[in-house]
Amino acid sequence: MTRILINAKANFWVVLSKAVNYILSSQRATIISYNDKYRRDTFDLLHRIEKETDLLLCPSEAYTIFMAVKVTEKINGDLAEVGVYKGGSSKIICEAKGLRTLHLFDTFEGLPEVGSIDSKQFFAGQYAGTFDEVKENLKNYENVYLYKGVFPTTADPIKTKKFSFVHFDVDTYLSTKECLNFFYERMSKGGIMVSHDYNAAEGVRRAFQEFFADKPEHIIEIANTQCMILKF
Ligand SMILES: C[S@@+](CC[C@H](N)C(=O)[O-])C[C@H]1O[C@@H](n2cnc3c(N)ncnc32)[C@H](O)[C@@H]1O
Repeated sequence: MTRILINAKANFWVVLSKAVNYILSSQRATIISYNDKYRRDTFDLLHRIEKETDLLLCPSEAYTIFMAVKVTEKINGDLAEVGVYKGGSSKIICEAKGLRTLHLFDTFEGLPEVGSIDSKQFFAGQYAGTFDEVKENLKNYENVYLYKGVFPTTADPIKTKKFSFVHFDVDTYLSTKECLNFFYERMSKGGIMVSHDYNAAEGVRRAFQEFFADKPEHIIEIANTQCMILKF
């Protein structure tokens, strides 16, 4: 009987310590331990956006985007995102961008072509958002432009622009390569590119590694699935 009680007690502490570790390793626990009101408020905002928009990013990824947009405030150029879906990540950018101009690109018919390099979880037509729904979601933000179609066939209106921040969330090799081909040379010095899925989608990773093989910039892996480039 005594042994059973000791075992039950030990199990209780194992379970409790696992639960505490789990909570401490989550993004919300980090900000509480820093007791930083700005971080806490920002995570609250990101959680609200997640609920409103079917956001496909986890909170730490959302936070990375928010902060990267903020720190490029003084860099010359517009902002852009390719891979809008229902506008979740676009809304995060909107919340952080101030009055800067944001260009948003999506087929609004889901992923275009998916190649043999790409992870098997992806298929053409996946993640189809609706143009009107996104327009409605973002109607309160100024200087936001939406472009429907396969990028870069829709990129004409921004050909002569420079960029301070761009976000790619396009899942596949070809789309990622097209984004890099288009935006790299248009990034201002000190501008930031963030991509989702670098650590989760084979095609995205391959596109970045090939593209940056002969470039001076580093591919900075973020702890979750993203990567970041700071333009030299
Ligand atoms: C995973 S979803 C984006 C999720 C969104 N960023 C979020 O966090 O809620 C991927 C999107 O990329 C879009 N997409 C992929 N390749 C594209 C391309 N070449 N041109 C336009 N849209 C593309 C798809 O239509 C889809 O909406």
